Amino acid sequence: MNDQAEMLRKIVHMKKDEQNDDSSGFDNKQARVITITSGKGGVGKTNVTVNLALALSKKGLKVVILDVDFGLANIDVLFGIVPKYSLLDLIHDEKSIFEVLTDGPENIKFLSGGSGVEELIHLDRKKLKKFVSNISLLDSMFDVILIDTGAGLSQNVMSFVLAADEVILVTTPEPTAITDAYALVKMISRRDHKKAIQVLVNRAETRKEAEDVANKLCVVSEKFLSLKLFKIGYILYDENVRKSVKMQKPFSLYNPRCTATKNVLEIADKLFSQPDSKIGSGAKSYISKLLSFFGV
Ligand SMILES: Nc1ncnc2c1ncn2[C@@H]1O[C@H](COP(=O)(O)OP(=O)(O)O)[C@@H](O)[C@H]1O
Ligand SMILES: [Mg+2]
Repeated sequence: MNDQAEMLRKIVHMKKDEQNDDSSGFDNKQARVITITSGKGGVGKTNVTVNLALALSKKGLKVVILDVDFGLANIDVLFGIVPKYSLLDLIHDEKSIFEVLTDGPENIKFLSGGSGVEELIHLDRKKLKKFVSNISLLDSMFDVILIDTGAGLSQNVMSFVLAADEVILVTTPEPTAITDAYALVKMISRRDHKKAIQVLVNRAETRKEAEDVANKLCVVSEKFLSLKLFKIGYILYDENVRKSVKMQKPFSLYNPRCTATKNVLEIADKLFSQPDSKIGSGAKSYISKLLSFFGV
């Protein structure tokens, strides 16, 4: 283990009072960290993330979105909100996590990663310590942390996926999207053969088509990778999605009664009706795993 890895381990395992953060008054609650990813781009990850966040918030859960799709940071675009701060302000300035989060609709908060994520690798001890203790505070502030990643098989995306408790893998019924989704599952299974991956089929023409796609992915993954995938649901093709994106409004706010909104509400119900839905290893554990995958 190199010096930096040793240092990180110490920081992460420090007791709260040693960290000198101001969370000592909070209980030991841990947030559920869910990464939303896909093999292919443009399949609907950001729309899923934003509208799932709204659906969970409607259920009374406190939700924060971390946007780590570099270059294509578009959570803010879908909300039609220009954030004042990004992850960079947390890393390099005196800003705390409370200050860098931006208010979205319905009590949702979000943070744009920007290029900040790549800079984590180069932080000195003091900055890393501040970063980890600030991120750890998300556990006491939120019930759910949704992470919108980029698409594809890059090391960066893989790190965000592997560090999370749960993964929502978005695909459309297009053969290219399915193939890329399978390639991603294959890569994940090599590193973590027990990862909880939930398949979400977006832009399906019918419920039957969505089920066929999900079944196909589940069958091949179990047969060839010995990895059991879960089916979390589907969102049908709905013109309201395209229209709402143009208006820079999440579709579930644009049209609360449209098919896509109903589908996303079903997904939220399913996600939080699972028996282990209270279990999550939390933001602190997530960030330590993530940094170790980054080689910090
Ligand atoms: N269920 C859907 N029905 C119709 N169009 C959709 C649906 N989901 C996504 N889209 C379209 O696909 C585009 C890309 O979606 P987006 O969430 O930005 O994908 P990603 O984040 O995976 O790149 C949206 O702007 C929208 O026009
Ligand atoms: Mg996106």
